[in-house]
Amino acid sequence: IPVDPFDLVVFGATGDLARRKILPGLYRRFWAGQMPADSAIIGAARSEMTVEAFRAVVREAIDEHVSAEKRDAATIDAFLDRVDYVTIDAKGEAGWPSLKAEMRKGMVRAFYFSVAPSLFGDLAERLHKHGIADAQSRIVVEKPFGHDLDSARALNATLARHFDEHQIYRIDHYLGKETVQNLMAVRFANILFEPLWNAQYVDHVQITVAETVSVEGRGAYYDRSGAMRDMVQNHIMQLLCLIAMEPPYHFDPDAVRDEKLKVIRALDPVQPQDIVRGQYRAGGGQAGYVDHSENPDSTTESYIALKVHVSNWRWKGTPFYLRTGKRLRARASEIAITFKEPPHSIFDDEKGWRENVLVIRLQPDEGMNLKVMIKEPGPGGMRLVQVPLDMSFAEALGENGTDIPDAYERLIMDVIRGNQTLFMRGDEVEAAWAWTDPVIRGWEDRGDRPQGYDPGSSGPEDALMLMHRDGRRWREIRD
Ligand code: BG6
Repeated sequence: IPVDPFDLVVFGATGDLARRKILPGLYRRFWAGQMPADSAIIGAARSEMTVEAFRAVVREAIDEHVSAEKRDAATIDAFLDRVDYVTIDAKGEAGWPSLKAEMRKGMVRAFYFSVAPSLFGDLAERLHKHGIADAQSRIVVEKPFGHDLDSARALNATLARHFDEHQIYRIDHYLGKETVQNLMAVRFANILFEPLWNAQYVDHVQITVAETVSVEGRGAYYDRSGAMRDMVQNHIMQLLCLIAMEPPYHFDPDAVRDEKLKVIRALDPVQPQDIVRGQYRAGGGQAGYVDHSENPDSTTESYIALKVHVSNWRWKGTPFYLRTGKRLRARASEIAITFKEPPHSIFDDEKGWRENVLVIRLQPDEGMNLKVMIKEPGPGGMRLVQVPLDMSFAEALGENGTDIPDAYERLIMDVIRGNQTLFMRGDEVEAAWAWTDPVIRGWEDRGDRPQGYDPGSSGPEDALMLMHRDGRRWREIRD
C-alpha cells in the first residue's frame, strides 16, 4: 500500500545506522513501489559534502546492505534522484535556512534524529525556530532513550518543549520485526491460545535473545550500558509486554500502549538471587570482553539472565525467565511458553509426560512450533511421544513469507502513515527505566562482578542454576 508523499530528513545521514539500516530500508521500500515517486530524502549532517558525494554514500550503502535481486541500476538511479543533502550545524544556525528551502508544501514531514541523544534538544529547537517543523511534522528518535529514569525524563521533557506526544516516534526496532507483530496476531486472532494464556495453565515463559556478535567496535558505548540497558530495558521488555498484556480493546496506538504500560508497572522488583550476569572471556584465539571494551577492570555484563514476576491476576505465580548475551553459541531469538501438565494421567506410559510448549521463533528464521503429545505409531501399545507442529513462515507463506521487510522499513513507513502503534510512548519508556534502575543500582551497591563465560557457549554456569533450582531447564540455544 503506497503511503502519502513525504519529505524525510535524516539527521546523522552519514552515520552508521543511516548507512546500515535507514537508507537501505528506504531504498527497499522504493524498489517495492511503496515510496511515492515525488517523495524526497534529505540527508543532513555536519560534514561539508556535495549532493553528489552524499549520493555516492547512499549508493555504497545500497550495494552493501541490499540483496542483489533488488539492486538494478535504473531503480537505484531513480532512487538517488530523490536524495538530497544539506550540511547542517546542530548547535549553530548554519544550514538551517537551506533545509527550510528544501521542504515542500503538502508533503508529510518527518525528521529522523539518527544522532546522539545529547543533540535531540538542539535539533528540536532549531526545527521550530526556523519554521521547518509544523504541528503535523513527526520526529523519530532512536535508542538509547536515556541511560536511566532521570535522563529519560529529561529527554522526554526536552522533546515535549517543541513536539506533542503524537508527533514523537520512539523506535524500538524489535517492534518492527515481523514475528514480534505476529505475537499479537497469534494471541488475539485465535481462540485457541488465549483461554490458556494465564498462570493457571502456563508453567513458565522463556525469552531468549542470543547473539554471536561481540561488542568489538562499540566497546565504549557498550561498556557504559551492558546487556541490561542495551537489550532488557527495551527489546526484551517489549517482548515481555506483548506476551503478558491484556487484550487491547482495539489495535490502536494508545490502546496497545496502555496495556503494555500496565504490564511494566506490574513487574516486581527483581531479587538479587534471580539475576545472573556474565562477561565473555577470551578464547579460541579471540579477544575477550575486556579487550573489546578496552577496560581491563570492567564489571559490565555482556550476558544477563533474570527471573521476573508479573504481579497481576493473570500472571501471579508464572515466572518469566529472560536471557540475552553476546558471543554465545548461536544467533537465536525465541519466546517459549511452557504449559502445565494435564491434571491426571490415564496412560501407563513410562516416559511420562512432556509439557506442551509453544515456541515463537524470531531469529534467524521466523516461525512457530507447538509441541504436542501423540501416540507413538505402531502396535506397541499406548506409548506417548512428543512431536512438533512446526511451521516456518517462509514455507507456509511461500514468497510472502520469505520477503519479510526489515524492521526499520516497516517502522519508517509507519511514521509516514502516522501510526504510532509500534512505537514507545514516553510514559512506557519511563516505566521501563523505573523498573530497570533499582536492579542495576542493586548490583552496583553489592559490588557484584559478572561471571566469565566461554565464547561460543550458552552463557555462564550460574544461569543454568537459575532454572535448575526451580526444577526447570533452559531450552538449547541453536540456529
Ligand atoms: C541493538 C543493540 O539495539 O540491538 C545491539 O544495541 C544488538 O547490541 C541489536 O546487537 C540486536 O538487534 P537484532 O535485530 O540484530 O536482533
